[in-house]
Amino acid sequence: MQIFPRWVNKTPLLLAAVTPVGLVAVVGIVWYYFSPKYKEVGYAPKQPVAYSHKLHAGDLGIDCRYCHFTVETSPRANVPPTQVCMNCHAQVKTDSPLLEKVRQSFETDKPVEWVRIHKIPDHAQFVHSPHLKAGVGCVECHGRVDQMPVVAQDKELSMSWCLDCHRDPAPRLRPKEMITKMDWQPSDTDRTNAAAVAHGLQPPTHCSGCHR
Ligand code: HEC
Ligand code: HEC
Ligand code: HEC
Ligand code: HEC
Ligand code: HEC
Repeated sequence: MQIFPRWVNKTPLLLAAVTPVGLVAVVGIVWYYFSPKYKEVGYAPKQPVAYSHKLHAGDLGIDCRYCHFTVETSPRANVPPTQVCMNCHAQVKTDSPLLEKVRQSFETDKPVEWVRIHKIPDHAQFVHSPHLKAGVGCVECHGRVDQMPVVAQDKELSMSWCLDCHRDPAPRLRPKEMITKMDWQPSDTDRTNAAAVAHGLQPPTHCSGCHR
């Protein structure tokens, strides 16, 4: 008499066959969704000076490139040197305690130690200039920085995020004069033009385009 049905005999084999695959899939999913980049959306470290983009880029309307002046030309976007702050703060709010570290930096010639927020790993490479030349606005990748009293990472900067746009950039392109206009909205003509521009672009989707 059989106590267990016959198929039970096959179970260990079946388990052995299925489990490694299942395990790899689970590990893969966990790795993918819980990899640091997903957690870093919203990453907003405390900065040494209470500098506000909402005040400077939003309310005062200073163009991003006044401070991030290498963003269109050099591989890395710069964070402004203290001199740029002093262009105004040698006259404005000269005795504000909130600017004490900025004045100290200026006097001692030691840069303010801003904490870096956005970073992709060394095995992948990203350069701003071709994106800006193609008409991708800052807001597509950094969100409404002009509304942020403290900068927080807005997008996950994952590989799939890069590729989503590379496969279909047209809806994310704008006229070049508008790359720093955070509240810009496209007209129908802008959409038609963007589709035409996208036609002439070749954002890489092959591995060596971003990994060298
Ligand atoms: C008056 C100078 C100034 C202007 C104008 C300005 N920024 Fe900044 N930006 C800074 C400083 C200083 C930091 C470093 C401190 C911080 O993160 O708040 C910074 C940091 C950033 C960062 C985070 C860098 C990192 O570490 O990852 C981004 C992104 C950024 N700015 C985008 C913009 C955009 C987009 C605009 C235009 C809407 C803009 N900034 C306008 C001074 C400026
Ligand atoms: C184009 C002029 C300009 C530049 C450049 C500029 N600021 Fe300002 N900043 C201002 C003005 C104007 C105010 C606000 C004054 C007010 O509240 O009446 C201000 C306010 C501030 C405050 C708040 C001070 C307080 O007591 O409320 C801080 C902190 C500050 N700025 C930091 C910086 C830093 C850091 C930089 C360089 C990365 C910088 N600013 C560059 C014009 C500028
Ligand atoms: C296509 C997406 C994209 C666009 C458009 C874009 N950025 Fe970035 N930005 C990134 C990525 C990705 C990083 C991280 C780069 C790295 O780790 O090398 C970054 C980093 C930065 C940093 C920090 C640089 C550092 O090394 O500390 C600043 C500042 C910055 N961006 C400013 C801007 C400004 C200003 C604009 C618009 C003029 C802009 N970005 C447009 C994706 C973008
Ligand atoms: C919102 C759209 C968008 C996002 C997001 C984006 N890209 Fe791009 N990328 C483009 C476009 C458009 C081009 C333009 C290509 C051209 O000029 O033909 C481009 C070009 C490139 C190039 C080729 C540059 C060259 O020298 O020609 C690299 C490398 C690249 N992107 C890497 C990245 C990486 C890495 C990320 C993610 C961290 C990313 N991109 C995110 C739109 C995007
Ligand atoms: C548009 C740019 C781009 C292209 C094309 C691209 N990658 Fe990536 N890849 C990235 C970025 C950015 C990261 C880092 C993502 C992160 O930190 O989450 C990455 C990460 C990776 C990782 C590491 C995963 C991890 O969790 O760190 C591997 C492996 C990888 N890519 C393989 C590939 C292969 C294979 C291809 C070709 C089929 C490819 N990539 C094409 C941008 C790209």
